[in-house]
Amino acid sequence: MDRILKFCVLLTLVGLADASFTKHDFGRCEGAVRNWAHSSLDKEIREDKHTLRDLLFFLHVPRTGGRTYFHCFLKKLYPSSLECPRSYDKLHFDPSKPNCRLLVTHDDFSITSKLPRERSSVVTILRDPISRVFSTYEFSVEVAARFLVHPNLTSATRIAGRMCSKTKGVSTLDIWPWKYLVPWMRKDLFARRDSRQSRGLPIPKSNDFYDMEEFAMPLHEFINHPVAEDIVHNGATFQVAGLTNNSYAAESHEVRHCVQKYKILGKYVLQVAKVKRLDDMLYVGLTEEHKESASMFANVVGAQVISQLRAPNASMTSVDNIGHSSLSNSEPDNFEHQNSTLNSRAIETSSSEATESKMTVGDLTEAYEDCISSLRKAQTQRRFFSLKRISPVNFSTEARLQVSDAVLQQIRSLNDLDLELYEYARDLFSNQHKNVLQKLTEERWENISIMTNWKLLPSMITLVFLLSFSLTVNMRRRMLKVKM
Ligand SMILES: *[C@@H]1O[C@H](CO)[C@@H](O)[C@H](O)[C@H]1NC(C)=O
Ligand SMILES: *[C@@H]1O[C@H](CO)[C@@H](O)[C@H](O)[C@H]1NC(C)=O
Ligand SMILES: *[C@@H]1O[C@H](CO)[C@@H](O)[C@H](O)[C@H]1NC(C)=O
Ligand SMILES: *[C@@H]1O[C@H](CO)[C@@H](O)[C@H](O)[C@H]1NC(C)=O
Repeated sequence: MDRILKFCVLLTLVGLADASFTKHDFGRCEGAVRNWAHSSLDKEIREDKHTLRDLLFFLHVPRTGGRTYFHCFLKKLYPSSLECPRSYDKLHFDPSKPNCRLLVTHDDFSITSKLPRERSSVVTILRDPISRVFSTYEFSVEVAARFLVHPNLTSATRIAGRMCSKTKGVSTLDIWPWKYLVPWMRKDLFARRDSRQSRGLPIPKSNDFYDMEEFAMPLHEFINHPVAEDIVHNGATFQVAGLTNNSYAAESHEVRHCVQKYKILGKYVLQVAKVKRLDDMLYVGLTEEHKESASMFANVVGAQVISQLRAPNASMTSVDNIGHSSLSNSEPDNFEHQNSTLNSRAIETSSSEATESKMTVGDLTEAYEDCISSLRKAQTQRRFFSLKRISPVNFSTEARLQVSDAVLQQIRSLNDLDLELYEYARDLFSNQHKNVLQKLTEERWENISIMTNWKLLPSMITLVFLLSFSLTVNMRRRMLKVKM
């Protein structure tokens, strides 16, 4: 009896201590997060955020399609001599290369502490968080599967190490977050293959490619793993805020852990990400609104880069066109198959025309369309060959429909901050889009009114005719649809 009583007292005490620790811990966390938010919110408001400054920083959130912007827009605008060195090696990163004007990395916002802040413009692209998680999972598995050509994990890892040093340290395996995700998946794929081989060829239990544990880590296992918590979930918010696991700011790790532990603290991070980051950016695109985003990028960013580089004082003679880093070296994704680099020449040609010739926004858009289609072809081919190694697994948008609601719901809940940030970005985008359209229309009308109205009359008539024609056609089409 006595003993039981003592035991109960002990339990209560432990419980109390626990509760007070939790309370204390929450207080500490709240303090850390609020301090961080406060110091971020303190900074002065930017007036001229619509004007491109000397340095363009492309904050590349993984799996948002930023790579195509880099190859198909920015590489055509900037000669490689103006590209800032990328920060693969954080300890020795020195962005102060004289004259450097373009920085594209997966680094988070905290890298701006190393940049001349008042002379930098930031741009980014955001994507629907659910799609981004899917894509991150698929890409991790895809890249890791390429290593299955090797007989065992030991030799695959050795080859990978050699590949890194050969490409002077620039491959997917060096770049955050892939430097964590790919080796993790690679180890996992080899383990599953070994177990398949020892048990004979298995027949998959399900027809859901995202849940074939005999061949690859199922999606639900991926999203619940601590590594995914570290670097995948709410990844866009943390990156925009400057709080990723890859951050330059010392306090960021505590802040991030606190926000992951106490969801209620997320509101501070969101507030900073919205009004102190996205609001101040020169451009925010959306992966989903691909066409509008690209056209806006050309008109908002492209047009300004063109006129900036052409200005007399831009003074960067375009000497460096010979020393172009080839696609296979500079691009994180291309470290293997020679097959898929076939198209790289098509992608590289006509680089940085802006400095040499009279490139216009129209030319830029046209070059972009060509470039993006060859890039996409190359990507599809790579994916096909990689996934063949873990056949029957084959990821696609249709296959995603097999994934259960429970898993989707869980992804949503693990990415609550990203979902809210994405909604915010959508609003921002539609406002920006409206403004740009309005400005373009105004410019066009100004140009038109400069010309004499008489000269214009025939083309006006044609325009009106074309407009009414397309209206009729559309209407007829709609009616047909209704009938069917
Ligand atoms: C892995 O493969 C290499 C190359 O075939 C071989 O030399 C080595 O013995 C293998 N290692 C193991 C642990 O099986
Ligand atoms: C970042 O995340 C990876 C993967 O979980 C982990 O190995 C690494 O130690 C983390 N880095 C920091 C600074 O937390
Ligand atoms: C343009 O360059 C000249 C000489 O390099 C310099 O003296 C001048 O201040 C520059 N003008 C601007 C607006 O930067
Ligand atoms: C390269 O492409 C050819 C034909 O398209 C194919 O037969 C070959 O297997 C590919 N090589 C690799 C390493 O994927």
